[in-house]
Amino acid sequence: MAMLSNEEINNIQRTANIVDIISSYIPLEKKGSNYFGICPFHDDHNPSMSVNEKKGIFTCFVCHKTGNVFSFVQDYENISFIDAVRSVAEKVGIELDVNFKTTSKYDRHYEAVDLANKFYQNNLKSASGKKAREYLIKRGINEEVIEEFGIGYAPSNYDTITKLLLNKNFDENILLETGIANRGNNLYDLFRNRITFPIHNANGKPIGFSARIYEDVDEAKYINTKETVIFKKGEILFNYHRAVNEARRLKYLVVVEGQMDAIRIYSVGIKNVVATMGTALTPDHVHLLKKLNVKIVLCMDNDSAGEKATLANGEALSKAGVDLSILRLSGAKDPDEYILRNSVEAYQDAINNAITFFDFKMNYLKKDKNLDKVDDVSTYINQVVAMLNKTNDEVLIDLTVNQLSEEYGIDKNILLNKIIKVEPVNIVKVEPQKKVRLQKRQKLCELLLYYMMNDIKYIKLYEQELSYVPDDTYIEIANDILAFYLKYNYISIADFITYEIDSNNYELVLSIIDNNAKVELSDNDYVGIIDKIKVIIDEVKINELKEKLKTISDINEKLKITDEIAKLKKRMCN
Ligand code: CTP
Ligand code: MN
Repeated sequence: MAMLSNEEINNIQRTANIVDIISSYIPLEKKGSNYFGICPFHDDHNPSMSVNEKKGIFTCFVCHKTGNVFSFVQDYENISFIDAVRSVAEKVGIELDVNFKTTSKYDRHYEAVDLANKFYQNNLKSASGKKAREYLIKRGINEEVIEEFGIGYAPSNYDTITKLLLNKNFDENILLETGIANRGNNLYDLFRNRITFPIHNANGKPIGFSARIYEDVDEAKYINTKETVIFKKGEILFNYHRAVNEARRLKYLVVVEGQMDAIRIYSVGIKNVVATMGTALTPDHVHLLKKLNVKIVLCMDNDSAGEKATLANGEALSKAGVDLSILRLSGAKDPDEYILRNSVEAYQDAINNAITFFDFKMNYLKKDKNLDKVDDVSTYINQVVAMLNKTNDEVLIDLTVNQLSEEYGIDKNILLNKIIKVEPVNIVKVEPQKKVRLQKRQKLCELLLYYMMNDIKYIKLYEQELSYVPDDTYIEIANDILAFYLKYNYISIADFITYEIDSNNYELVLSIIDNNAKVELSDNDYVGIIDKIKVIIDEVKINELKEKLKTISDINEKLKITDEIAKLKKRMCN
């Protein structure tokens, strides 16, 4: 299989205009020579991300995220570096070798799941899949939807897929590690006599399954792939890869519990929908949703478990500062049933009328109370006040206090007195990264390296005048810059970022770029930097010599060293 060389990757980087690519994700506005946008990598309200078209890099001056066009796409889309390269190449119309493939140590795992998935899909069309097919049709899942979602059927035999994959030379370990097979006396298929729903990662690769019974049998309704090396449950949302573009376009994403709900909603035309697959949102899920930077419409099932899930998931999302609406359905147990009973339009209306998380909690608190009774009113009001004490949204406080005062005839001042102005405890913002304070010497070295990343004339001058810097880590980076220049005969920050991607110093390189992004390059300043570093180098030498002096007794030797120190000192004064 062909691999993509750094030259090819650099060529894609140079062909792509970083401003064009990033503007296809977030709006950018030109200010001076740079472009600015709302940073999608932290809870940003003012445009803090600057994009430098000429250098091909972006930096955020709040969260300090820095990188080139590939890093942006990689982090924004939540995909691998090489998939980001592929995506940028596609956007700029560079055709990559169709055989080009990156190797990952999990290639066989992906292949195994992919093959199993294809097998299940075909098997649904076979005679043995007849009843499963009938079940789906009865539920209103037609051929087209079956195709689109890759729905399949796992045969009832003990080890059909296991044998098939072993015959294709897959290692037993691969079958076990992907959760396709379990070990009994022999390996056997995990999914038997079930309808299979493939679950994909953000790149659209199948990584696992959820499998449902279709007859009235006394077994768990669903069996799912357990956590595996390629199926990270806590990061995966069903249908994410199909929903993400539509969610960005419409600026909201519907989050439901069941994959059948997501399939129904999607197939009637509301494509910005994902399913949690019945589990509580993990911090990784929350982070993924937060990064999407769109409103989340949380629509859990219409039962008490769904209500609890709304509270827990809603709390997690709102704490992360996600723009959140809550949709509670009535007259149906879940969105699937709601749409079948009513209509798409009715469901879309319900989405449009989703309420705030605060209102949901108010309703929730009212639920089991008799608000004609003084006791219940008092408890209710105290609970609402407790909620208000967790927010610093003054408008919300004012509106709620007015509402309570009117509804229950309570003096506004009494309510207001109960409200303590506290720092909000329930808003956890993505902490802007604290920058490490650099020492003067480190600052100089970083500045020098930044210059070198920008222009070969600075590399050449470095070689002539210094050829090393007084710090081991910075020497490594300087050597990498030199190596890049010797190999490709040019230098560019954006391509150097790619070059360093597997280096231990990658983060440091990004931070050097970030720390110096605002520096205006000047030849005079550069000479000044080199001179200052020379002085530091001499200081280091003098100190070393002084130490040596202490250990020496031979008088001639001592004189030689003192002489050397004097020379160095003199040079420093010039
Ligand atoms: N689930 C599961 N195991 C179960 C039951 C449920 O993993 N035994 C997960 C599934 O991902 C399911 C989700 O929880 O989609 C929601 O469960 P539920 O509401 O019971 O299922 P529905 O989505 O309504 O599925 P269906 O309509 O097919 O009954
Ligand atoms: Mn259902």
